[in-house]
Amino acid sequence: MKKDSLKVAVIGGGSSYTPELIEGFIQRYPALPVRDLYLVDIEAGREKLEIVGALAKRMVEKAGVPIRVHLTLDRREAIRGADFVTTQIRVGLLAARARDERIPLRYGCIGQETTGAGGFAKALRTIPVILDICRDMEELAPDAFLLNFTNPAGLVTEAVIKHANIRSIGLCNLPIGTRMQVAQMAGVHPSDVEMEWVGLNHLNWVTQLRVQGEDALDVILDKAAGTGALGVKNVPDFGLDHDFLRTLGALPCSYLRYYYMPDQMLNEAQEAAQTKGTRAEVVQALERELFALYKDPNLAVKPPQLAERGGAYYSLAAVHLMDSIYNNRKDIQTVNVRNGGVLSFLPDDVSIEVNCVIDAQGAHPVHVETPIPPQLRGLIQVVKAYEELTVEAAVKGDVGAAVQALTIHPLVTSAQAARSLVADIIAENRAYLPQFA
Ligand code: G6P
Repeated sequence: MKKDSLKVAVIGGGSSYTPELIEGFIQRYPALPVRDLYLVDIEAGREKLEIVGALAKRMVEKAGVPIRVHLTLDRREAIRGADFVTTQIRVGLLAARARDERIPLRYGCIGQETTGAGGFAKALRTIPVILDICRDMEELAPDAFLLNFTNPAGLVTEAVIKHANIRSIGLCNLPIGTRMQVAQMAGVHPSDVEMEWVGLNHLNWVTQLRVQGEDALDVILDKAAGTGALGVKNVPDFGLDHDFLRTLGALPCSYLRYYYMPDQMLNEAQEAAQTKGTRAEVVQALERELFALYKDPNLAVKPPQLAERGGAYYSLAAVHLMDSIYNNRKDIQTVNVRNGGVLSFLPDDVSIEVNCVIDAQGAHPVHVETPIPPQLRGLIQVVKAYEELTVEAAVKGDVGAAVQALTIHPLVTSAQAARSLVADIIAENRAYLPQFA
């Protein structure tokens, strides 16, 4: 029987994104009765947890919903008996992300939060911590769902699929963000937009697009050409040209610009690193501003400045997903799940990002109608092979797998560069990579 009150644990609760999530829980309270919300962080995040937690309590009180917000450093207490566990952690904090963005530049490679050697370094740090959380869940909340937002979300999801025994779904804000932007371009409500979404996290394409039931892919490709109109705050929006998009035959996500125009993106990254700073450094300044606002005892709503972060709408995605699981809605959402034959050119046990039916049992991928053309399939296969090797390297502390992973990555220039990158990443992340000790 359906419970009439829920316990949710948010691991990484001191994140500057938490007010988004709180807003989501408040708005959806009638459909999703979250009674106990545990915001968990580590000692190094205590101050942020207290600031964000106090704002969360003010938001809940102002909205008049009976959500009890608990702040704790005790992860096990938060997980015990939870119905949902969400993870939004950043192992090594933004300082580690800044290193991920800068180290690859030494070797003429792109360093990005989730893409290329930057995302690789983040995966090595993050996967062991997420698997530890899974161990706690296996013991203390075996029926709970893990909804993971932590990047690189596709790699983290795959590690959980292969190395844990819990129910889990990987989430990203790009699908919902794209839907919002397409709706705006077409002048319709987001619910009038249907998309067939294919690929991996941050390496995906919209292969079919209908607006109010009518095919609108070509119209949207034409509108998107050259403009960067469909983008995210954290990826430079050089537009792709019209002919390229038409022959590609699908709408690429913003992160594909790293693959389609690597020289331009690398130049931009190098210039930014010397002038305004990398994205992590820009975000560090933004975070200081956000936390100064969060401290204001008169603030009791999510401040608009939070929209400057790339993760806009992420709470909508998270809360929508919980609602559909809790209420067995059987609607379609785009999430990261086990392939299980949906993309027949990939192994069964890898993660993919596709449309899924969401019900009380979780996410079930739906059949992909469009035959995947070689220009999509080739890139998906090579990046997936890189991801499989990266998960292996992260779990086993296997330097050989790490070097092979980066060597085949399209954004790494050579085996020698891969070797140097792995050496630098391990040396400069020592505190967070015990598996390589
Ligand atoms: C995008 C991605 C997220 C990522 C975020 C970074 O929206 O989909 O996965 O975490 O941007 O934003 P930030 O403001 O931290 O650069």
